[in-house]
Amino acid sequence: KLVSVVLSGGAGTRLWPASRQAFPKPFMKLGGSTLLAQAICRGQACGTDELLVITNQDHLFLTKGVIENLADPPRTHFLLEPNGRNTGPAIALAALHCAAVHGPDSVLVVLPADHLIPDTEAFVACANEAAEIAQRGQLVVFGILPTGPDTGFGYIEVEHVVRESQAVLRFVEKPDLPTAQSYLATGRYYWNSGMFCFTAQTMLDALAEHAPRALHAAKAALKSSKAAGEVTRFDAHEFGLQPDISIDYAVMEKARNVTVVPARFGWSDVGSWPAVAQAHPEDASGNTFIADVVSVETQGTHVQVESHGPKVVATVGVKDLVVVDTPDALLVAHKSAAQKIKSVVDTLKARG
Ligand code: GDD
Ligand code: MG
Repeated sequence: KLVSVVLSGGAGTRLWPASRQAFPKPFMKLGGSTLLAQAICRGQACGTDELLVITNQDHLFLTKGVIENLADPPRTHFLLEPNGRNTGPAIALAALHCAAVHGPDSVLVVLPADHLIPDTEAFVACANEAAEIAQRGQLVVFGILPTGPDTGFGYIEVEHVVRESQAVLRFVEKPDLPTAQSYLATGRYYWNSGMFCFTAQTMLDALAEHAPRALHAAKAALKSSKAAGEVTRFDAHEFGLQPDISIDYAVMEKARNVTVVPARFGWSDVGSWPAVAQAHPEDASGNTFIADVVSVETQGTHVQVESHGPKVVATVGVKDLVVVDTPDALLVAHKSAAQKIKSVVDTLKARG
């Protein structure tokens, strides 16, 4: 049995105002459909038998809406979180659920709901390879060729960076800048894509060895949960007792049975507005306009409008800006400061 596990949790505050608490990044449309729909279809293309969606309970109806609108809605089960406790607990619950429902040998393909992978066919080829390796008791990660010393990623050390899959020597989650720079200089590292593949049993064994507290808490949370049809709801108190830890720190950094499959597909975690811009075709001046824009002497600028009626935007004599207009918020930022947009969200939150 193959199960695709879609993680739909993060708020994506660096993509304000298109990504909000009530309408987070997975529901953002890129290239015609939401990132969530794209992740689900990616899983379906791998030939999965069931879709397991792990998301906040407040997003059930929004998520169901996305699934019902698919051409071929998959058989789905929802694990509804009262309050996200990060990817460690989410994946522990997924592994426990799959072991119980589909058997310990079932293969899980973990797909974050907010990634952009334009070439589904190339992804499926890598995922099939990963599923095969997973059946031999490996925890499989997908390696991305790094383009810079980005400190927001996990780093995967190997003997040599090659096109074939191989054993991982070391996994380091989010190193600091000097460390990331020294890694890149060796040419022996991939970035971690954040997608994983393993059997339920392999993950449960790894959790038992490296994160027993998280596994124990996940079991307790599941014990106090209530399943009704396609939905599992948790007791908020038991759920909240799980440690807030990512799977990268809890398991991947510690396990010795990790194999990397190099990603032979384009990938972006669309973590910022410049990354969104990069996902769209540029005009001759490097602009990406998702709006009716009249531009004069404008370069490298991203404009996106989500208004209720027609609206024209004009840009004159500007360079490297991000302009995002939504019905109730307008963002004007410089691309070089895109990482600081999350502090707008902090300020708005503090205002209440
Ligand atoms: N359901 C659920 N519940 N999903 C969650 C939760 C949670 O509590 N926490 C995070 N997620 C989802 C996010 O929505 C996202 O799709 C994915 O899991 C990864 O979480 P992030 O918070 O975005 O992780 P990250 O970007 O800091 O780091 C991870 O991804 C990088 C690649 O994008 C790590 O795996 C890194 O090693 C990796 O390089
Ligand atoms: Mg992320």
